[in-house]
Order: sequence, then structure tokens, then C-alpha cells
Amino acid sequence: MNVQTRIIRDAKELSTFAHEAQKAGKTIGLVPTMGYLHDGHLSLIRAARQKADVVIVSDFVNPTQFGPTEDYATYPRDEQADLEKCQSCGTDVLFIPTVETLYPNGQDSTWVEVSKMGNILCGATRPGHFRGVATVVTKLLWLSRADYAFFGEKDYQQLTILRRMAQDLGCPTEIIGMPLVREADGLAMSSRNVRLSEDERSQALSLNQGLRAAHALFQNGSRSVKDLTHAAQNIIQAQKNTAIQYISIADPDSLEIFTDAVPDRAIMLLAVKVGSVRLIDNMRLD
Ligand code: PAF
Repeated sequence: MNVQTRIIRDAKELSTFAHEAQKAGKTIGLVPTMGYLHDGHLSLIRAARQKADVVIVSDFVNPTQFGPTEDYATYPRDEQADLEKCQSCGTDVLFIPTVETLYPNGQDSTWVEVSKMGNILCGATRPGHFRGVATVVTKLLWLSRADYAFFGEKDYQQLTILRRMAQDLGCPTEIIGMPLVREADGLAMSSRNVRLSEDERSQALSLNQGLRAAHALFQNGSRSVKDLTHAAQNIIQAQKNTAIQYISIADPDSLEIFTDAVPDRAIMLLAVKVGSVRLIDNMRLD
């Protein structure tokens, strides 16, 4: 579905556009992204197109969710390619703000923080990351007046945190999670995949293979955190250039991490550095 996508860079202009759409009785779907769109993002945009009358995609590499030694400066960007992809999926508005637009008072900002859930798993190795995510998503929801906001399950902890945030703040937007999209060989789609060398890319397949091994063991009846974790760990560690940050098994709703026995509903989540590229992946075990 090809449409003429309007680019908006100004926060007030976006807010006015959304207000007019609401006044006309239209529902609004928001797809927040950091750009460099891949098929995973496009599946979110298509879902938004199906559900809402108006589709807004935001394209903003949010500095506050990167730590000082992380890859903010080198995060891949390609505005023109993003625009073309948005057009091909029926996006009405592509919102591309500057840092100053979204953070008019710089680091001296108002922050949104989801306690506890934001400090485990990725939050433990990336302090402040989820505070940055929750803060920018709050701004985007507010400016876009979205009825629905779409997020991929690849960032499972992010999705869970944003659901909790929306519930805690009484936010009127429905947070919608969409299935993780993989490459044909099983690698979870991520904008960061382009930074993998050819060797690293094949080593990165071990993340999905490790998850699948744990899944198979779980399906065969194993309920031991230790055994399930080892199954994934052995496969990932067998590849050189991989450094595991965490492999955890958690409750899919609360993200409570299991340390001993695994109940019948569970998800395995992991973060692994392959060379210098940090990748995350997850799989429901049940
Ligand atoms: O998932 C992402 O791309 C980002 O964390 C998000 C939700 C767009 C916030 O910057």
C-alpha cells in the first residue's frame, strides 16, 4: 500500500496533526522506532495500518537510552530509506524530531522510571536504559495522542516495562506487542545486525540455536533453570567472539526471574555480545 508520507519534525506540528485527526473521529496508531527500518519494524507498521485510521511512525535515535560507552554515535541511520519503507507500508506521518525538540531542557529533564523491572536483565548491564526508553515513549505517546502503540516482542523486557508504565500512569494508549521477526536462518532482526562481520553474523546464529535447545529440553520435561540455561550457554559459548551478558528464565508477565525450578509458563531471555555488537533474543519455552 503506497501512500504519500508526510514528514513532521516539529513537536507542536505533530501534536496539532494528531489533535485534528482525533477531532475528525479518527483513531491513531503509533510505531516508535529508532529508524534504520527492517522487516520487523514493517510488520509493526502494517499492524498499525490494519488497526488504526491514521499511522504515525517516529524515527528518533534516543540518546538517553544509551550509556556513555554505548553505540549512540555509530547507531545506523538512513532517513531516505526509512521514508521509502514507510511509504510502501501506508504510513501517514513520519515524525523525525531532533534531540532538542524532544529534550528542550537537555539532561535536566523530567524522567519516567519503571522501578524494579527496569533494573534487571538488560537494565542490570545498561543502567538508565529503560528510564530513557520510558521517558521518550511517554513523550511520543503524549505528542501523537495514540490510541494504539506497537512494539516488537524482540525487545520483550521493553514491551513488558511499557505495558506496566501505561498501566501505572493510567495512560489511555493500548500497548500492543507483535511477534519477533527472524531472518530465514533464525537470526532475530535488528538494526544492529548490519554491524556484524560475516563471521560474527554466523556466530550470532548461536543465540537462536541456544534458545531452541533450551526450548526442546523444556518441551521434553526439564524444569531445571540450571539445565535449561546450560543448554543455551554451551551452544553460544562454543562460538568464539561471543560474550554472554545474561541468560535468564522469567515469568512472561512480571519478569520475575526463576532461580531454581521453572513453572509451566516461562520465557528465556538473553543478551550476548558478538564482537562489539550487543544482541538480544528471547523465546517462550512453553
Ligand atoms: O525499540 C526501540 O527502537 C526503542 O527503544 C524505542 C521504543 C523506539 C524508544 O526509543
